[in-house]
Amino acid sequence: MRPQIAQAFHRRADGYSRSGWHAEIAADFVTWAGLGEGDRVLDVGAGTGFSTFAAARSVGPEGGVLGLDLSEAMVRKARTSASPEEKKNTAFVIADAHEIGLRDHSEVDAVIFSMSLHYLQPVSALRRFGRILRPGGMLAYAALQPLEPRPFRLFKELAYGYGISIPDRSHDIGRAEWAVSTLESQGFGDVRTHVSVIAIPDRDLVNAWDVHVTMFQPLLRTLDPTQLSDFNREYETELLAARQAAGKAGESGLGAGVLYVSGRRRR
Ligand SMILES: C[S@@+](CC[C@H](N)C(=O)[O-])C[C@H]1O[C@@H](n2cnc3c(N)ncnc32)[C@H](O)[C@@H]1O
Repeated sequence: MRPQIAQAFHRRADGYSRSGWHAEIAADFVTWAGLGEGDRVLDVGAGTGFSTFAAARSVGPEGGVLGLDLSEAMVRKARTSASPEEKKNTAFVIADAHEIGLRDHSEVDAVIFSMSLHYLQPVSALRRFGRILRPGGMLAYAALQPLEPRPFRLFKELAYGYGISIPDRSHDIGRAEWAVSTLESQGFGDVRTHVSVIAIPDRDLVNAWDVHVTMFQPLLRTLDPTQLSDFNREYETELLAARQAAGKAGESGLGAGVLYVSGRRRR
C-alpha cells in the first residue's frame, strides 16, 4: 500500500503544489489549532509544505517546523518553493511515518497531520506520535468528513456501478465522535473538534478526475478502455451538473466539509 501511495504522490506532486483548496485547508486548520510562538512542531505528511509553512508562520522565528513525508517528489517541491524567510525555521525529511524511529517523551510541542492521517494507520500513528510530545503538548489533525468532497463521493458511487469498491479513508477519522473517543483512549485530554467548509474552486475541480484516477489506479485496472471512458463521461456530466447547481445557489465552487481535531498530551 505505501509504495502505491508514494507513487501516486510522485505523479501528483506538481498538481498538488497548485491545489488552492489544500492550501486553504492547511492555513485555516493551523490557525484553528493555535500553535504558540516559539513552538517546535512536527508536520507528519507535510507534502509540498502548505501545512509546514502555515505552521512556520504561527511559531515565528524562535520556533521551528520539521516536515516529514514519504514522497521524495512532494518534499522536493516543498524545498524548492520555500521562501528565504521560510527556510529559516523549516526543514524537511523524507521518511515513512510508520517506520521512522521515535523517542518517547521528547521536546516536541506539537505534532500536526494536515490531510495526511487518512493515508496512515490512524490509531497507531496517533499513539506513536503522541509519545514524542512533551506533557501538555498538542496533537492536531485535519481530515475530510466521510464521503467528502462531492467529487470523491460521485467517483465512489459511479465506480460501484462498475463493480469497484473505492474505500472512504475518512470513514472513521472524519467523524468527531471517533476523534474524541480515540484521542481520549490514547492519553489525550482537552480534545476539541471543529468543522470548516472549504470551497473547492473551479480550477481545482477540473483536475478532479485525474486526481482520482491517480490515487485509485490499482483499483481501476479491471476496467477496459471503453468502460473507463464511459465512467469518465458519466462522472464529468454529473460533476458539471453539481457545479452548475452550486453556481445557481450563488456558491463559488463546491464546499468540502473538513474536520479539525486537537488534543493535549496528559501530564
Ligand atoms: C494530501 S497530502 C497533505 C500534504 C500537506 N500536509 C498539506 O496540508 O497540503 C498527504 C501527504 O501524506 C504523505 N504520506 C502518505 N503516507 C505517508 C507515510 N506513511 N509517511 C509519511 N508521509 C505519508 C503523502 O506522501 C502526501 O504528501
